[in-house]
Amino acid sequence: MASDFAQLVKQQADIVKIIGDYMRLKKAGAQNFSGLCPFHKEKSPSFSVHATRQFFHCFGCGVSGDVFSFIQKIENVSFPESVRFVAQKCGIPLPKREFSSEEEAQEGRQRAKLLELHELATAWFEEQLRSPEGALAREYLSGRGLKPDEIKQFRIGYAPDSFHALRERLQSLADEDTLRLSGLFSFKAQEDGKPGPIYSRFRKRVTFPIANESGRVIAFTARALEAGEKAGPKYLNSPETPLYSKGNILFNLDKARQAIRETSFAVLVEGQMDCISVFLAGVKNVIATSGTAFTEAQVRLLSRYATRIIINFDPDTAGANAAEKSIALLTEEGFEVRVVTLEGGLDPDRYIREHGAQEYMTALRAAKRHSDYLIERARQLFPPSTADAKVKALNFLLPHIKRMPNRITRDEFATDAAQKLGIDSALVREELKQAAAKRRDSLAHAVPTLSEAEKDLLRALAAPVSDQACKAAMAGFDSNESYFEGLTVAPILKQLRHRGDADPMEAIEDPAGRSLLAQALNGEIEPVSAEHVTAALETLRRRYLERRRRELRAAVSEAERNGDTTSVIKLTAEKLALDRELREP
Ligand code: GTP
Ligand code: MN
Repeated sequence: MASDFAQLVKQQADIVKIIGDYMRLKKAGAQNFSGLCPFHKEKSPSFSVHATRQFFHCFGCGVSGDVFSFIQKIENVSFPESVRFVAQKCGIPLPKREFSSEEEAQEGRQRAKLLELHELATAWFEEQLRSPEGALAREYLSGRGLKPDEIKQFRIGYAPDSFHALRERLQSLADEDTLRLSGLFSFKAQEDGKPGPIYSRFRKRVTFPIANESGRVIAFTARALEAGEKAGPKYLNSPETPLYSKGNILFNLDKARQAIRETSFAVLVEGQMDCISVFLAGVKNVIATSGTAFTEAQVRLLSRYATRIIINFDPDTAGANAAEKSIALLTEEGFEVRVVTLEGGLDPDRYIREHGAQEYMTALRAAKRHSDYLIERARQLFPPSTADAKVKALNFLLPHIKRMPNRITRDEFATDAAQKLGIDSALVREELKQAAAKRRDSLAHAVPTLSEAEKDLLRALAAPVSDQACKAAMAGFDSNESYFEGLTVAPILKQLRHRGDADPMEAIEDPAGRSLLAQALNGEIEPVSAEHVTAALETLRRRYLERRRRELRAAVSEAERNGDTTSVIKLTAEKLALDRELREP
């Protein structure tokens, strides 16, 4: 179980604040906050965080736990790493490292080493940019309108035209295998199949660090200074590494996330340079897909912070295709999506340089609803002058219309599409009816409800063991186990009763049980007291007696039917005793 240090950290950390750093949380009760679950796809919030109990739970997918489990899952780290992470956030000095297994220790060391290498590489690239060798790159960047302090803010650097310089800088810190793993180097396979010697992946390029949500550099994208075959691809990225997975990262999210959370609104661009220019123009809630296809993981990442988005991709075919795919993913997740196409075929970076920040803001404000954008695009692709073209245009739009989770906006979209394409709207509505029927099939399952008495007992048993209410509940549970026979809540009470010093949520094995516990804890208005426990036990006792009486009544009838007089007498006496017990106040 958790070390003393972990306990100390947990006492000082505020789970609402820490989780609130990763997603939008709304107050949902006296002690509760809720939001969209970061761990599964959903459109209405079923993820809740309990402020005093310091746990989170998702009624949709069943994940739950304390602040450390949250960090473990969201940052993809081990338990000890999560403890260190939270400690750092709270400014608690770290003791010597503790790990629960050798394997975990190994992984933690490796990640820490890779992060260290990236940090050093970032600083080294920055240094190279300032060195005489970096003159060309400095010229290039100033030509793109970047000032020295802006270059510093984004930690832009220069990878010199050398195969070995970076390795020489890093080799005293890590062995060759670790350097290979970092993605900062390339190598060729040798004839025997073994990897050959390593050399700098990025050469003669401007380097842009890619950071994770907490701002640690985990990869690079590097731009060639010149065009042409010899220079290689315009942008070269780090490969997938233990730190970096392209589809899970949004460029600039570390800098933008606060602004996005505050406004619940984000601007999405394609390129890193676009992103940097837009950010420097004062639009702080901007992120970039970095030219890769927008992934579901990125949409989910974004949905932790934003509900509205403006897509501002390049106005070329590739950009339009990427915009369509992104619109599909985003609207399906319930985002309100708008699209900007900048005049003159310009990308955001060039538009800002040519027209200035103010005009860019004006263009953003004039962003079209995604439905209007798509209808326009359909009309461009299939000018609706013939019946055949109209059908094609409609077929282009239908999947987009069907995806809209909200009925009102869906109908509006359909009506607009029919009108602007000159199609009978009844035809469109018929198509939509079928889609609606399918949607109804996949409605969320219901969570069973608990009585207040059951909830109070759960609350008491989930309290610290030293708590009076907890002691009363444990004693009550031990001496009256029969009261709980056959109740859904029984196995949960039992697991809580015998949880030892484990976290209450962790002590419950199945997600359905955790949901019930979360339901009880979330509904708590004031801390449960020993008196509450006594009252709850009394209620459950009476319910048990009533259940028992119903059973006896059925058994008496059964014995009468069978002519079993002895049993009738015995059972009736038992039932009368129960009646007396139940009449007592
Ligand atoms: P600049 O010319 O530096 O302004 O880049 P850009 O963003 O205007 O370039 P472009 O519109 O061609 O590409 C958009 C994004 O796609 C870039 O920002 C990169 O993230 C990515 N990209 C462009 N070229 C390449 C390439 O050769 N390789 C890779 N991996 N990505 C690229
Ligand atoms: Mn550009």
